[in-house]
Amino acid sequence: SGSADLVIVANRLPVDRVTNPDGSSGWRRSPGGLVTAVEPVMRANDGIWIGWPGTDEDVEPFHDQGMDLVPIALSELEIEEFYEGFANATLWPLYHDVVAKPEFHREWWDAYVRVNRRFAEQAAKCAAEGATVWVHDYQLQLVPQMLRELRPDLRIGFFLHIPFPPAELFQQLPWRRQLLEGLLGADLVGFQLPGAAQNFVRLVRQRVGHKTHRDLVYLPDGRTVRAAAFPISIDAEGFETLARSEEVEKRATEIRDALGNPSKVFLGVDRLDYTKGIYARLRAFAELIADGELDVEDAVFVQVATPSREEVEQYRILRDEIDRLVGRINGDLGRIGRPAISYLHSSYPREEMAALYRCADVMVVTPYRDGMNLVAKEYVACRFDNRGALVLSEFAGAAEELRQAWLVNPYDINGMKSALLEAGRAEDKDVVRRMKAMRKQVMENDVAAWADSFLAELAAVRPDHGKTV
Ligand code: G6P
Repeated sequence: SGSADLVIVANRLPVDRVTNPDGSSGWRRSPGGLVTAVEPVMRANDGIWIGWPGTDEDVEPFHDQGMDLVPIALSELEIEEFYEGFANATLWPLYHDVVAKPEFHREWWDAYVRVNRRFAEQAAKCAAEGATVWVHDYQLQLVPQMLRELRPDLRIGFFLHIPFPPAELFQQLPWRRQLLEGLLGADLVGFQLPGAAQNFVRLVRQRVGHKTHRDLVYLPDGRTVRAAAFPISIDAEGFETLARSEEVEKRATEIRDALGNPSKVFLGVDRLDYTKGIYARLRAFAELIADGELDVEDAVFVQVATPSREEVEQYRILRDEIDRLVGRINGDLGRIGRPAISYLHSSYPREEMAALYRCADVMVVTPYRDGMNLVAKEYVACRFDNRGALVLSEFAGAAEELRQAWLVNPYDINGMKSALLEAGRAEDKDVVRRMKAMRKQVMENDVAAWADSFLAELAAVRPDHGKTV
């Protein structure tokens, strides 16, 4: 066995292989909430991170900013069947309330099993005797069980970053029992919300037939598995420090100038994903302009949409729909030098995001379903001035913590219109009161606290650390 006492296993490495316009290749930070959260944890700890580098080329293990990264190559066919297929066209829509229709294909499942086994084998090689292995997210739900078979000495944790679906939806999966058994290979299974952990335990009782009591599952071999909620967070202080920097302040002023110094800047920041509710949100804003409630001379909506999963059909369709919608809205409602929507289909470094957050009078986060949504927390962390209004979907995990946001039902366009207006017109004193309360929540519950509580709980579930069973 290998050498690390802490091994992170996630589908993606924190960096993603990209091809530059001149044909050379380089690395860029990977998109998404998982990397935003887990990267600062790993930088603060010694350990190894096993994951896919975003390419089908073989890449040797390497160091990046104090982290030891071990790449797992996926073949072109595996990218198609495991990543684009089972992970992102079966599990992703199913776990997000079937916002899009999940597809079930047996070849995709076979690829999922094969790729999960490769991740488990690599983890088994890298982990020291009695080490802790922390497996992440829906792409790798079979790894805990496969790894336990290879290495019964390990302490194994699993965390699901996305929602866990209600039983009626989960039950559609032809491979539901295998997935539950895969997860039960872990000593601790973590979810974003308590309801998700309860769903999981109930499904295990009903579908697998194990005895359960509250958050515990009793396996026939004597092992106990705990399922509990650990709401994830961000490096809140890191974001605040960045937002306070002179460089970011200067950039924020430049951005406001470039937008023509409107009195209200609305902002959306998402991966371009159909779960995020981007289309409905832009329509709500456009209707407010068409109704004469907002004026393009005075208000603008900046939407950053990070390219994501572009080979998956539903994502292509969405991209075209948003392109057409933005074109139509700006064509109908914009004036010279004054588009209603400033649409950016691109990803940006953290400094630029912090500057955008500082510019935004109203941050609009309206997913149909979201495990947590760390963009909402990043916004709050950057508003050290206690200004800025957050419009937040009830169906984002973050809504359980950020109660002082303007909470909306993203399916209710009229409700969103009212919330956008109210948030934009709120009195300073109301905005400050709400932001202060949300800042207390976010600054006190940062990602270091999240990782500490997960790892402490994992150690408590499996106190026989280091002993081979
Ligand atoms: C979400 C998922 C992550 C995923 C990220 C980006 O945050 O929970 O597991 O890595 O999206 O998606 P991608 O498919 O590009 O890895």
